[in-house]
Amino acid sequence: MAGKHLDYSNIDFAKVTANMEELEELDDFVGAEDISLSDIEKILSMKDQVKDFQILMMKYECALSEVRTKLDVLNKELSLRNNRNPFESIKMRIKTPVSIYKKLMGKNVEFTLDNINENLSDIAGIRVICSFIDDIYMLADCLANQDDIKVLQRKDYIETPKDSGYRSLHLIIEVPIFLTQEKEFMKVEVQFRTIAMDFWASLEHQMKYKKNIINQDVISDDLKFSADLINQLDLRMQQIREKIDASEDMS
Ligand code: GTP
Ligand code: MG
Repeated sequence: MAGKHLDYSNIDFAKVTANMEELEELDDFVGAEDISLSDIEKILSMKDQVKDFQILMMKYECALSEVRTKLDVLNKELSLRNNRNPFESIKMRIKTPVSIYKKLMGKNVEFTLDNINENLSDIAGIRVICSFIDDIYMLADCLANQDDIKVLQRKDYIETPKDSGYRSLHLIIEVPIFLTQEKEFMKVEVQFRTIAMDFWASLEHQMKYKKNIINQDVISDDLKFSADLINQLDLRMQQIREKIDASEDMS
């Protein structure tokens, strides 16, 4: 039976790179020589791979949509049960072709479609911003336990923060997408953080990628100190919420 084929004609590089800017921190800057989007297109067209690249990016976009829907479903159910939203907001992004190129160059790996799939696990990135730390673990567990999801990696930078002070829970998962002819598992990086951790990470990211910062060591120490304060605040807000929940249960 001939399957109905998807129309790829309207998938273009502009779409693939849409709304990337604010989520640049998910992209690695490896210092490869400057390369533009049109350079990337040229490399790909030389290899006759433009369409295949677009299809691959489309698959990652579909994987993001699948994970987004799963999180929305959990949010709907849990907000009815608990009278609060387990997450405040979600940001999603597909890594830009330029950033993919640079990351592969940084790993000394040639820019091919197979290498993208084999070497990079953060082409599709989703960031879930929660109010409370316990909601992070609850949501991550609910997602990880779904029977069509495979967890490839779990890094708990809340329990063990990075030296910088960075805190977040990271999962690399594989999610199936259903195409006309096949089912394919795609990797998605899911980062869970509190609002406060996200606020911290954005400021710290600004410092990391700005050149010639005066007093960088002092600022780094300040950021580390602030990261600990933020953690105390997050824990405290959670305790207050638990007290409010407990008094509601009694009334
Ligand atoms: P990458 O090659 O950067 O993906 O490193 P990795 O594979 O070791 O993954 P890791 O879990 O350490 O980091 C993945 C992502 O988490 C980064 O791309 C950033 O978005 C975020 N991240 C990790 N560490 C920091 C940090 O110290 N500061 C900030 N602002 N973000 C961080
Ligand atoms: Mg990464």
